[in-house]
Amino acid sequence: MLVLVRLLSCVVAMVAAAPALAQGDYPTRPVNLVVPFAAGGPTDIVARIVGEHMSRTLKQQFVIENVLGAGGTTASTRVAKSKPDGYSIIMGHMGTHAASVALYPKLGYKPDVDFAPIGLAAGTPVLILSKKDFAPKDLKEFVNYVKANVSKLNMAHAGVGSVSFTTCLLLNSIIGVKPTSVPYSGTGPALTALIAGQVDYMCDQIVNVVQQIEAGQIKAYAIGTRERSPVLPNVPTASEAGLPEFQASAWNALFAPQGTPQPIVDRLAGALDQALSDPGVRKRLLELGSVLPDQAGRGPKALGALVKSEVERWTKVIQAAGPLE
Ligand code: MLT
Repeated sequence: MLVLVRLLSCVVAMVAAAPALAQGDYPTRPVNLVVPFAAGGPTDIVARIVGEHMSRTLKQQFVIENVLGAGGTTASTRVAKSKPDGYSIIMGHMGTHAASVALYPKLGYKPDVDFAPIGLAAGTPVLILSKKDFAPKDLKEFVNYVKANVSKLNMAHAGVGSVSFTTCLLLNSIIGVKPTSVPYSGTGPALTALIAGQVDYMCDQIVNVVQQIEAGQIKAYAIGTRERSPVLPNVPTASEAGLPEFQASAWNALFAPQGTPQPIVDRLAGALDQALSDPGVRKRLLELGSVLPDQAGRGPKALGALVKSEVERWTKVIQAAGPLE
């Protein structure tokens, strides 16, 4: 009898220790890193750079899965509802985890409640761009031209809820126009359409467009940050170009589903931190125009605070812009 009791208590202790053991060993298989937009776009680019380094740190592959639809909210809803075991995480951004709240009254998740923040990966300033043969020479001319010709103009974006949609919503509301909006599954394909001259203008994150601006494949009118970007020194800030209200900078960040055990979140946050301190990763992200978070801006706590403040900021902007159609 005594042997049986001892055996049973051993089994109970082993079962109780199993999750802790599993967390201690994490990750023991590949991690699914969901990108809520098309391959080749800004979110995908940042996820691949950072994910590749995290794979090396955690000695497991980070498999990128592009889950498309509804301005990134389809993927975000899926990850919010997935098993909180650290094997399904998402590279969210200012659209999916802030602006979407005001854009979708029936959003299937609350960015600040249904996710465990892991950390900010990169700041991504937003530019006002057009096809290369768009007539206006500078931002003042752009504003006048768009006002005068709006019924003929197409604006590309990556779906309601995306950064490109939200920041051009801000731009259009400042100018007082509602052009025809053309949604794509990401600004990767939207940029291809802009280069081909199939659409007239778009607002996009810097990491997607530096090379194309330098090669003259598209035009850049202004950047929505206080300072010019060191990688695009000839592009004026919106304030310099006469539109100071256009303040538009986005960010990419990693999130796990809420309920993910803290040791796993900490391990992911540690691996992200190592990636952001790695000279090779920093060089690649900086060359693309990203703004890298300093130590205080990294980790779960800083990201949790950022999400709250960004939901507030973009809700005000979107409400002030009025109805979408
Ligand atoms: C993308 O990766 O395609 C973008 O982040 C889309 C966007 O939000 O504009």
